Amino acid sequence: MKQVNVIFLGCGNIGGGVFRLLQMNAAGIAHREGMQFNIVGALVRSVNKPRPEGFPTQCLTTSFDELLAKPDVQLAAEFLGGVEPASTYMETLLRRGVSVVTANKEAIAHNWPRLEAAARAGGAGLYFEASVCGGIPVIKSLYSSLQANDIQQVKGIINGTTNYMLCRMSQGHLDYSQALEEAQAKGYAEPDPTNDVGGGDAACKLSILSSIAFHTKVPLEDIFREGITGITPQDIETGRELGYDIKMLAIGKKHEDRVEARVHPTFLPLDHPLTAVKDSYNAVYVTGNAVGNLMYYGKGAGDLPTASAMVSDMVTAARTAHHRYNTFANTEGAPAEMPIAQDWTTRFYLRMTALDMPGVLAAMAGVLAHHGISIATCSQKGYGHEQVPIVLITHPTWESAMRQAVCELAQLPQIKQVDALIRVEE
Ligand code: HSE
Repeated sequence: MKQVNVIFLGCGNIGGGVFRLLQMNAAGIAHREGMQFNIVGALVRSVNKPRPEGFPTQCLTTSFDELLAKPDVQLAAEFLGGVEPASTYMETLLRRGVSVVTANKEAIAHNWPRLEAAARAGGAGLYFEASVCGGIPVIKSLYSSLQANDIQQVKGIINGTTNYMLCRMSQGHLDYSQALEEAQAKGYAEPDPTNDVGGGDAACKLSILSSIAFHTKVPLEDIFREGITGITPQDIETGRELGYDIKMLAIGKKHEDRVEARVHPTFLPLDHPLTAVKDSYNAVYVTGNAVGNLMYYGKGAGDLPTASAMVSDMVTAARTAHHRYNTFANTEGAPAEMPIAQDWTTRFYLRMTALDMPGVLAAMAGVLAHHGISIATCSQKGYGHEQVPIVLITHPTWESAMRQAVCELAQLPQIKQVDALIRVEE
């Protein structure tokens, strides 16, 4: 039986999950893979905190140097989270030939090339299936099972917190603050929810996912992001009347000469498979030129779902003699960095408050026409009031044109305010 000595960097919720899973399924892994994992060191903040039953507490340390001094370590599992010091610790280990398994999306999204270079230099492997959508095996699938395809797009609900909140707003008729409060009470949202509700978490995951899917670097800082804080029950209800549900989507699209990568709240047709993804579940919808459309669905967070991906990576890392390194280039000679689009075409939902008087629609349509924007549907609700809501959906148009048009619409004397602009995908 092959003995694989593992060190843990951190040992909180996810680390505890990995330990419990290794215990639960050790016999099966040993039988199928002929290997046994031994935890020989664990870097923690406090050695006195309670650990899962049976955890080898004698190997706990608060010193990274002490951890580095452990002999015969083949594998490190990283649970620290955050960019630093996790990236530096992982880099050090990789250079020393210790393969690293991590769920750390921030470290990978910020420092992937640096960590990849260290892995190559050390002949070690860097595995991060759990960094995107927890237990959903989408990274291995893109790398292996879908490698015959040219992947054209990935669209994902890859943040469970915002999916939970938007579902509660859509189905439970809560407003944003009530949905956030409930998500925090249930432990889905952090006390400071900025990274989830602002799209930062999803942008890290999209950077990783679209870099793998499109074989090019999709830098985190080039990803457009807009959060869900401005979404109101009124827009959700109006969208539903028009046949849409709202989702926080991460969208990656590959074009001939550029890649599109954006995270924002999006109206999706009610019959789109992604609108069936409820609560804190995640899903990734992938389109390949051979396979067509696929959807991966499951738990994107939580100790055991994340441990499922991490232990699988540990087995792969331990049995692989020659690890895979990312070239970030689709074909020999292809540029490693395709331009990341800062403009794209999409449909828009636009809600405005206007005076109810002759010429309002003509003025509004004139501004849109001036920017080449075609209206697909338009409705004015209610009459007999001085101010009324006007809602329209456009045909696909350039983002830049729509933004300019919105600025001009806001200047029209007949338009009291532009209330909402939400992108609409098919
Ligand atoms: N905060 C994340 C989410 C889970 O809400 O999906 C960890 O990536």
